[in-house]
Amino acid sequence: MQTVAKLDLLRKSIAALRKDGKTVALVPTMGALHDGHLTLVRAAKERADHVVASIFVNPTQFGEGEDLDAYPRPLAEDSAALKAEGVALLWAPEVAAMYPEGFATSIAVEGVSSGFCGASRPGHFDGVATVVCKLFNQVRPDMAVFGEKDWQQLAVIRRMARDLNLMQPFADDIVGVETVREADGLAMSSRNRYLSPEDRAAAAKLPREMREAIARIEDGQDIRPTLAALEDALVSGGFASVDYADLADAASLERLGELGKNPARLLVAARIGSTRLIDNMAVRPAS
Ligand code: PAF
Repeated sequence: MQTVAKLDLLRKSIAALRKDGKTVALVPTMGALHDGHLTLVRAAKERADHVVASIFVNPTQFGEGEDLDAYPRPLAEDSAALKAEGVALLWAPEVAAMYPEGFATSIAVEGVSSGFCGASRPGHFDGVATVVCKLFNQVRPDMAVFGEKDWQQLAVIRRMARDLNLMQPFADDIVGVETVREADGLAMSSRNRYLSPEDRAAAAKLPREMREAIARIEDGQDIRPTLAALEDALVSGGFASVDYADLADAASLERLGELGKNPARLLVAARIGSTRLIDNMAVRPAS
């Protein structure tokens, strides 16, 4: 595996990978890799001749008071894990290479960005969209692979890629991969390593309570009281607060008052200790 930090070297290396019409899949990450990320790499390998992974802790998607400085950066470990998975090229630029002096452009994806994490983390999705657009332009992949754990992020990136023709002619080549979970159901996340042992044990209540709420909703119980009960269960189970627990159309992310004929998604963000966890799960449409 080759590791590059300069754009001219990246372009040369990508051109070499593309020789003889070979395809390239991009797996963008912020590092601190866990099995969820490695599953993305495996999904990319199944679909393309070569996998390019990026590691860049993107400052523009962190708000004030968030964990940018504390965000884990175990580059040597990450690099070894990617190499073991057969990644061809690691793109690991410095902040100054991504955001040179005078950088003044930002991409805002209206609609899908506005609720949920967009409401509780103002500017977050502008930062994500901008950096992902840059990564797409730098690598020019045939496809890119993201985790479904960040469901809203996936919707934002799909919208942006379609609107700006970033993957043309492969309009559907933003691949979403199902969330990888720990044995007790907690979604894997680089931020799980911040949890104290007590909080880590209590965190497993998030997927458990979400599944209970989904069973009730699919069973026809009223949505708003069910979501309120989910929030109460999380707070009484050790979570400090719930940013949101809501039901939305899976594609447009419009909030739903009742189940319709389209796939829906239960989306939750909640804080435990000083760590903010997010999760989402499918809800079957009404029959
Ligand atoms: O999901 C992430 O790790 C980041 O938001 C991404 C897509 C790599 C952009 O910085």
